[in-house]
Order: sequence, then C-alpha cells, then structure tokens
Amino acid sequence: MSASAWLIVVAAGRGERLGAGTPKAFADLAGRPLFAYSLEAAAASDAFAKAVLVADPQLGWNPVAKLRPRARALMAGVVEGGATRRESVRAGLAAVRREVGAEADPVVLVHDAARPFAPPALFLRVATEALTGAVICAHPARDTMKEVRDDRVTATLPRRALWQAQTPQGASLSVFEKAHAAWPEPDSPDDAFLIEQLGAPVRVVPGPPINFKITTAEDLALAEAWARAGGVPWMAE
Ligand code: CTP
Ligand code: MG
Repeated sequence: MSASAWLIVVAAGRGERLGAGTPKAFADLAGRPLFAYSLEAAAASDAFAKAVLVADPQLGWNPVAKLRPRARALMAGVVEGGATRRESVRAGLAAVRREVGAEADPVVLVHDAARPFAPPALFLRVATEALTGAVICAHPARDTMKEVRDDRVTATLPRRALWQAQTPQGASLSVFEKAHAAWPEPDSPDDAFLIEQLGAPVRVVPGPPINFKITTAEDLALAEAWARAGGVPWMAE
C-alpha cells in the first residue's frame, strides 16, 4: 500500500480543558504547533495521497504555512469544523468527497490533532488494514478498571477485555459516510463507534501508549518532555 489513502486531521476543538487561550491543536509543543506533528508523521508514512485539516477559520494565520514541504505537499485544504468532534469529522468527510468525486471510495483515516505522537508506521499500518475493513488502534488497559457511581465502586471490570481506543481510525470513505448518516446524535464517542452501530466489524491493531491525547496542561508538559527527549524522530528528519 502506498500513497492512496486520505487523512482527516480534526483540529477544530476549543481546547477548554487545556485552557491555553489558543485552540489546543495550535498550541506550541517544543517549538512546533501541535497539529503539525500528525501531518509530518503522515507525510513520512507514505500512506497518503492527500490530507484535509479541519480547523477554526478564525485562527488568524495559515496553518499550512507552518508545515515542512513534505507535509505541505500532502494538504488538499483546510475546512471549517463543527460544534462537536463528530460534526468536524463529517465536515472532513464532505471535503474528501468533494475532492475525490462521487464514484471514488478511498481509504480514509481520521486522526485527532491532539495526539501528536502517532508514529509514521502506525499511520501506514492502519491505512493498510483499512483496505479490508474498519480498523482502530488501541492499547490494553494497564490499571485495574472499576465502575464507579457517586464515588462508590459498583463493579471491577475484567481488564483483559478492556482496551483504550486511539486514533487514527480507518475505513473506506463510503463506510464512514454511511455510519455518519445513520447516527442521529450530535456527537459520538469516536468514529469506530458509528461503524459498530451499523453492525460492521471493527478490527484492532496495537497503538503505542505514547499515542495519548493531550487534554490538560499536565499532558502538554509531559508531551513537551517526550518531544525534547527525542521521542519524535520524524520531526527531526
Ligand atoms: N475537535 C474538533 N471539533 C470539535 C471538537 C473537537 O475538530 N468541535 C478535535 C480537537 O481539535 C481534537 C480532537 O477533536 O484534536 C479531540 O477532541 P478533544 O481532545 O476533546 O479536544 P478539544 O475539544 O479541543 O478540547 P476540550 O474538549 O478540552 O475543549
Ligand atoms: Mg472536546
């Protein structure tokens, strides 16, 4: 598989829990904007024909200009997001459909800009697996998992069956479109959830725990340490 998938990077959230004053996806991480990490990794993976960035048009600067030439060459455009993550993904899917035309059905990967450490090999793996069906990356839960209500444990869950889902998540464009069209709520836990609701199988490939989502200022500080410790070699290429 090489260079035939499409990538949607969702970056239109407000980043309220981070509270950086700027949308989270455009916050600084070790000298580069957060969203750039995913697009540089995607460009290094050679899995993608093109990428769409979903972002707030009020940003005040052109995010594409912040990318290195290889990632910049991948960009098909920047489109406006929606009020929820699911609506932002839908805007990205519509942009891909506009670009490829009514008949084409490429593999699409959806990725959170808030996960800067998805490595090139993971993008390639998910893109390759998605040729034969929907796929997510995830890692097994490490802690003992409790169900808690009103500060009280109501159950201890069998950990072996519990995995933490990440992005990228991949499927064919038509499957994503069908899944989004069928789901009536404004938001959804993730993209694979909508495919699960169709009754379609979703496979799992291992995603590294370092592919975590930056949510709080503490997460950003940890990410900064990892980036400065050489954890993102594709950013130095
Ligand atoms: N996202 C988006 N459009 C939205 C909401 C979220 O594109 N309306 C994107 C975010 O930019 C992020 C990813 O979805 O890359 C995961 O969302 P989350 O971590 O919740 O980010 P934010 O919504 O920005 O953060 P918060 O919930 O703290 O405001
Ligand atoms: Mg959010």
